[in-house]
Amino acid sequence: MAPSVPAEAAGKESAVSLPPLFGPAFDADPYPAYDWLRRNAPVTKVPLPGCEAWLITRYADAVTALTHPALAKDPALGSPEWFRAQLGLPLDHRSTLARHMLNADSPDHPRLRRLVSAAFTPRRVASLRARAEELTEGLLAVMAAKDEADLIADLAYPLPIAIICDLLGVPESERATFHHLASVIDSAAASEIDQLAAATDGMERFLADLVAHKRTHPGDDLLTELVRRPDISPDELTSTAFLLLIAGHETTVALIGNGLLALLRHPGQFAALKKDPSTLPDVIDEMLRYDGPVRNATWRFPTEPVVIGGQEMLPGEPILVSLLAANRDPEAFDEPDVFRPGRIDEPHLAFGRGPHYCVGAALAKIEGEVAIGGVICRFPDLELATDDLVWWPSNIMRGLFSLPVRLNK
Ligand code: HEM
Repeated sequence: MAPSVPAEAAGKESAVSLPPLFGPAFDADPYPAYDWLRRNAPVTKVPLPGCEAWLITRYADAVTALTHPALAKDPALGSPEWFRAQLGLPLDHRSTLARHMLNADSPDHPRLRRLVSAAFTPRRVASLRARAEELTEGLLAVMAAKDEADLIADLAYPLPIAIICDLLGVPESERATFHHLASVIDSAAASEIDQLAAATDGMERFLADLVAHKRTHPGDDLLTELVRRPDISPDELTSTAFLLLIAGHETTVALIGNGLLALLRHPGQFAALKKDPSTLPDVIDEMLRYDGPVRNATWRFPTEPVVIGGQEMLPGEPILVSLLAANRDPEAFDEPDVFRPGRIDEPHLAFGRGPHYCVGAALAKIEGEVAIGGVICRFPDLELATDDLVWWPSNIMRGLFSLPVRLNK
């Protein structure tokens, strides 16, 4: 049965029913439900797997929440159950792997963020573009031997994980282990708790060993640059490496997958891009707005009572900002449900806003440009092989399990 929104929360005279906010139908198309919420209950308490949270769906309220000085990130401000349920990982907020900037507030957050941002030098980002091009070429060459391909397994999944390995300087001999642990963490269902616990423990040991290795075997990579700094602890280093993996991998897989799906479903825009490839950055930007990767990963906790959208939220109550919903708000975007590159509306929120704005946004866009630009250049007559698509059941991300296409070479 659909849960009810109290009349005062919904801003209506009588209690109304919320649309379902998880399950296969919602995973396939969450936008009608978000539209309903934006119109009827823009700031409201919703049940999510394992917990209840305030959900913010309007663009203006989302911006207020993401930049609000009294909304903090430290998960210790919520409950341990909430943290586990949200993350879908058997981690506690005290775990070593949880001690990174996305879970931190001042003074730790600006310190950790500065260190990582400084290590994303223009030279490193340029060399990662060259690496992304080389990797994409190799993946497309393998695809070229087939008539049909899965754009997730054949391109969107392997590219970002290889780039994270380069960024962290994972030695070639260790990459298979790293890939294996990452894929268990990515794909194990929350119910497979033992498997997940073993993989997260294995990843923690792997990354702690990698940090120790970088001290004695420095390389030309971001982790080596970080271990040289005196103002970051070994646990923070391990956790930061883990954050770069989880924040930089599935998100980018989903940008490439959701983005290519949007393009394949809009042949007019596909044709326009082929005619003028210089519009690719605009197309990527619209992909991020239209069907972005992050579903519910933007939690905040009030440190004092905070009123947003007429609702008072109290300390300890988790708040989620729905970037997907905000990016379809007609108050911010003209005809928001239309996929239209080159918009002159508000900037989208797919990378967040404010102090926690995505550190890897430039890298993610490069990977998107290289992968999406590469595949349409190599296979310009590419088309969807089925409309029967399966979406990740993740509460945190929005992405596809597979994207089968005919290459029509
Ligand atoms: C933070 C989205 C790719 C590293 C964030 C946030 C969002 C986001 C929405 C802010 C969360 C919040 O405010 O609570 C995305 C999307 C990506 C992507 C949509 C791909 C299309 C990457 C990549 C990396 C990365 C490739 C690095 C390799 C980070 C880090 C943070 C972050 C370190 C934490 C920033 C902080 O707490 O100050 N990302 N991200 N992301 N992202 Fe990304």
